[in-house]
Amino acid sequence: MRFLKFLIIAAVAIPITFFIWNAKKSGPSPKNKAYNNKKATSHINKYTGQPKISAARGKKIAKNNGCFSCHSTDGSKKTGPTWKNLYGRKTKLKSDSTIIADSSYIAQSIKKPKAKVVKGFMPVMPNFSYLSKAKIKSIIAYIKSISKNKSKSS
Ligand code: HEC
Repeated sequence: MRFLKFLIIAAVAIPITFFIWNAKKSGPSPKNKAYNNKKATSHINKYTGQPKISAARGKKIAKNNGCFSCHSTDGSKKTGPTWKNLYGRKTKLKSDSTIIADSSYIAQSIKKPKAKVVKGFMPVMPNFSYLSKAKIKSIIAYIKSISKNKSKSS
C-alpha cells in the first residue's frame, strides 16, 4: 500500500518537475529579452507612444515589402509607374478620368490597388492592406520626399 502511494506521487511529481525544468530552459535569457524588446519598440516614439512616421522609415518599409521590384525612384518605368514625382502629379486612370496623386489617393493605391488603375499599366499590384496606417503614412512621406510637386497638393 505504501509502495503504491509512492508510485502515484512519483508518477505525478516527475512529469511536473520535468515540465518546469524544460519551460525554464527554453525561456528567453534576460539578454535576449532586452534585445527583443528594443527591436519591437524602436519604431515607437518614446515620448508620445505613437509609431514614428518618416520618409526614411517609409523607404525601408517599401524595400522590406518588395515595392521596388515594380516601382523605380529614378523615373524609369518598371511593372508599375515610377515613384519619382508621383506625389502631386496628374495621373490618367484606366477609366480615362484624371486625378491628382495626393496622400489619400496614394493610400488607396496601396490598400486597394484595383480601385483606381493607372492608364497604361496592368492591374497586377497585390494589395498591401495589411500595412498599418503608420507604415502607409511613412511610405507616403517617402514618396512625397522624392517629388518636386510637394507643395501642389496635400
Ligand atoms: C507586382 C508589382 C507591384 C508591386 C510589388 C507593387 N506595386 Fe504598386 N503598382 C503596380 C502597378 C502595375 C501599378 C499601376 C496599376 C495600378 O494603378 O494598379 C501600381 C501603382 C501604384 C501606385 C499608384 C501609382 C500612380 O502613378 O498613380 C502606388 C502609390 C503604388 N503602386 C504603391 C506601391 C507600394 C507602396 C508598394 C509596396 C508596398 C507597391 N506599390 C508594390 C505594381 C506593383
